[in-house]
Amino acid sequence: MKSTILSYAAFLLVLIFATQSIPPTTGAKDFVYDVTGEKVLNDAPYSIGPVIWAKGGGIKLTDTKNNKKICPSYVVQDPAEVNKGGKFLFTLISDNEKHEKYLQTSHILGIDSGRPKNGSCEKWTFWQISDPEAKPPSSLVTTGGTIDDGPTCFQVVDYPKPTSSKVHSYMLQHCPYYCGGTPPVRCYNVSLYQDKGTRHLSVSRGTPFEFVFQKAK
Ligand SMILES: *[C@@H]1O[C@H](CO)[C@@H](O)[C@H](O)[C@H]1NC(C)=O
Ligand SMILES: *[C@@H]1O[C@H](CO)[C@@H](O)[C@H](O)[C@H]1NC(C)=O
Repeated sequence: MKSTILSYAAFLLVLIFATQSIPPTTGAKDFVYDVTGEKVLNDAPYSIGPVIWAKGGGIKLTDTKNNKKICPSYVVQDPAEVNKGGKFLFTLISDNEKHEKYLQTSHILGIDSGRPKNGSCEKWTFWQISDPEAKPPSSLVTTGGTIDDGPTCFQVVDYPKPTSSKVHSYMLQHCPYYCGGTPPVRCYNVSLYQDKGTRHLSVSRGTPFEFVFQKAK
């Protein structure tokens, strides 16, 4: 009888160990990958552009509109596919994530255009959307924002139906509430908005802009 109890206890122990070792996947990090399959670094310079570059070039800043100087700059897609666009730093902003080595999907970040701070045009250099629920130009992405502020609060998420199974592609969401913005508690898809031949990044109803990361040299 005693041995039966003992073996039952042993069986229970095995069961406990077995169930405890089951979930290695929960808590795994969803890293962001560049076109070469490398993990995208936190706070390091990258270009972003479409999966199929025939659809236009990379994302860049423009400081002219209708030949007039504008300030701060708009964030737009270069019309020429040969152009990789500007270099931007995707920077995790939560206190406990600031020093992470790699970016993760669905984690709040700011996007720094990396220009000299307090330049002639703008005091701050983070991408921002002043009002995602308003019509353009208020819903267009510009620079000039400060980090960890509602208007500069974004996240990178996996593109739901990727164009290519060979590369990781993503879309950008604007989530003002997550960085101390005001409700509503929701995120807004960022897509391309065409205005007089210029393709702006913007919160608009169109298909979300699908892009890939390319490490800048
Ligand atoms: C830029 O200037 C503003 C005010 O003129 C100041 O508050 C801010 O700290 C400056 N930023 C940097 C990065 O020097
Ligand atoms: C964002 O884009 C995804 C993919 O196209 C779509 O399923 C979702 O409904 C969009 N969300 C909003 C709030 O428009």
